[in-house]
Amino acid sequence: EIKNLEAIFDLRIANDEKIEPKDWMPEKYRQTHIRQISQHAHSEIVGMLPEGNWITRAPSLRRKVALLAKVQDEAGHGLYLYSACETLGVSREDLYEQLHSGAAKYSSIFNYPTITWADMGAIGWLVDGAAIINQVPLTATSYGPYARAMVRVCKEESFHQRQGFEIMMTLANGTPEQKEMAQDALNRWWWPSLMMLGPTDAASVHTEQSMKWKLKRKTNDELRQQFVDQTVPQAELIGLTIPDPNLKWNEETKRYDFGELDWEEFWQVVKGHGPCNKKRISDRVNAWENGKWVRDAAMAYAEKQEAKKLE
Ligand code: 3HC
Repeated sequence: EIKNLEAIFDLRIANDEKIEPKDWMPEKYRQTHIRQISQHAHSEIVGMLPEGNWITRAPSLRRKVALLAKVQDEAGHGLYLYSACETLGVSREDLYEQLHSGAAKYSSIFNYPTITWADMGAIGWLVDGAAIINQVPLTATSYGPYARAMVRVCKEESFHQRQGFEIMMTLANGTPEQKEMAQDALNRWWWPSLMMLGPTDAASVHTEQSMKWKLKRKTNDELRQQFVDQTVPQAELIGLTIPDPNLKWNEETKRYDFGELDWEEFWQVVKGHGPCNKKRISDRVNAWENGKWVRDAAMAYAEKQEAKKLE
């Protein structure tokens, strides 16, 4: 019986059909989607912290409003993705518990400090730039709720990337100190941004199966190469230098060759030993605990509204 169900499922995947919450799916398909979608949601929520740090210190009202909008978008993306994850039979509380206890993974990139205002530009330009490259293929992923969530997320990400690049362009065209600030931010965020796209295909435990299930439509290395090819000309356009001595245009492949990533650093950060891992989790736990009264008040208000309807 299961053999038939699996054969039908594989046929549906081969026909690019969308798998919906109530459809039969292999337990491993369900589990890997809970894994990836929950990590994606956690990344969005934790991703608010490095940027939130600069909302009160933005250099102008216009920059403050744009950054505020971006951070609010990340919150929305997180809640969107938690909802998509719940359709697979996990509870929101369990997912929060996994994040707060340190058990859950979220994107390594958010464990680096945001030292100057230029970091807001580098994050928008590079981190959201890499996120778009990673998320556009996910709009065609086989699990319906995830694919549909990605359509909305990708639209908002492009605004994030553009506002970040505009900050970098402004600084790069500013005073020598401002240009130096932009270059310093590029130096610190370049390699961690490449790491966002995951280990090499050879080292990736999930890529092969995720490609078969059309969860992934492109591999980690393909996406990383696309990010480099797209971003290098943008850096050149504003006169910034990519901090990779091995970066070189390859006339044959029509792609950039680039240096080896520091995978030791990558795994250290993924395992929780990055510069800000502990602070990010404690900030999240504090926000959760300090926000309890807001959640309780909202529930009490909702119950009152419900009771009024029944009067
Ligand atoms: N940070 C933390 N953990 C990572 C990682 C990273 N950058 N890259 C890989 N890992 C983990 C994986 O989760 C996996 O661990 P697990 O088995 O415990 O889950 C392990 O390293 C092996 O890596 P794989 O490549 O085999 O894992 P995946 O197939 O899951 O690929 C991925 C990793 C490319 C990040 C994939 O999960 C993915 O595409 N996720 C959806 C997109 C996402 O989460 N993006 C995070 C960016 S944050 C963001 O978009 C916010 C934006 O608004 C800025």
